[in-house]
Amino acid sequence: MNGLHILGTGRALPANIVTNDDLALRVETSDEWIVSRTGIRERRFATHETLTQLAVEAARAALERAGVSPQELGLCLTATVSPDCATPSQACLIHQALHLPEDCPAFDLSAGCTGFLYAMETSAALLPRMARPYALLVGGELLSRITDMDDRSTCIIFGDGVGAAVVKADPDAPWFARLGARGCREVLWAPGPGQAEHPYLHMNGQEVFKFALETVPKLARELLDQAGLDKDQVDWYVPHQANHRIVESVAKRLKVPLDRFYENIERYGNTSAGTIPIALDEMAERGLLKPGQWIMCLGFGAGLTWGGALFQWQAREER
Ligand code: UT7
Repeated sequence: MNGLHILGTGRALPANIVTNDDLALRVETSDEWIVSRTGIRERRFATHETLTQLAVEAARAALERAGVSPQELGLCLTATVSPDCATPSQACLIHQALHLPEDCPAFDLSAGCTGFLYAMETSAALLPRMARPYALLVGGELLSRITDMDDRSTCIIFGDGVGAAVVKADPDAPWFARLGARGCREVLWAPGPGQAEHPYLHMNGQEVFKFALETVPKLARELLDQAGLDKDQVDWYVPHQANHRIVESVAKRLKVPLDRFYENIERYGNTSAGTIPIALDEMAERGLLKPGQWIMCLGFGAGLTWGGALFQWQAREER
């Protein structure tokens, strides 16, 4: 089945907290509007941290919790659209900082907010062919780098943050995953380096909202069918944190109580490829994830892309 176990997770957030009131000093908006339309109360915007610094902090925490040393890694993947360099890849910068072995390939994946799901499924497919069965997966962004702080339709929603996971390939691990894409530049895009005089993210929020509601409930049902599980057998739904109203509508459409969906958008905003690994790390730290529980991660975003994974939780292995 080419399954995965998540052995350990980590996260790192920039220190600088920016509240809705802070943003209202710059653009015409209000705490009331942002909370009621998105669920967000505050987010982090990096002042001095680089993506590499945050990624390495998150990665070290994940490796420690997994009980895996950097030398044991067989693959290093990073999902991001806001790397420190266009090249080398963000994954190679992490590889350098952690002194990973030379037979541990490293590369980035660009799948917008679905990036971490793409990284999980790519590692499930590749790991059996690698020198060692452990992968470091990093998902995260410094979106403040590519967000126009004078554009109230984007600056209120996005934030900076990184999550990481150390996974192990296990052919016996139950693992159900689906990835999809519908090539579409217009709805959510950012120009490449040096390509525009307005080098920021452009988003048609309403179109992304509609796309999410069309895609995510269907994706969840497909994963349940694939696994032969009922929606009530899933212990935790871990959705991409794009907007609280999207999560609420997805829960309603699936007829699953909202409290089965983990949410932290209130504190971090939408950190794109970072939201799912950051959420998993918080859940693990809070003791919400127990061995054997069924977890469904659901992502969607620029591309347009979507992806989901349904698996059983199993933290650090005894070795
Ligand atoms: O992670 C994947 C990528 N992104 C997403 O998933 C985002 C999905 N979309 C969304 O979360 C929402 O579309 C937004 C939060 C971005 C916008 O919320 P909305 O309810 O779709 O607002 P809207 O764009 O329909 O705008 C409604 C009104 C407009 O005013 P009028 O034309 O009705 O007078 C906007 O000009 O709200 C106005 N508006 C604002 N007002 C105060 C738009 N942004 C703001 C703002 N503060 N920040």
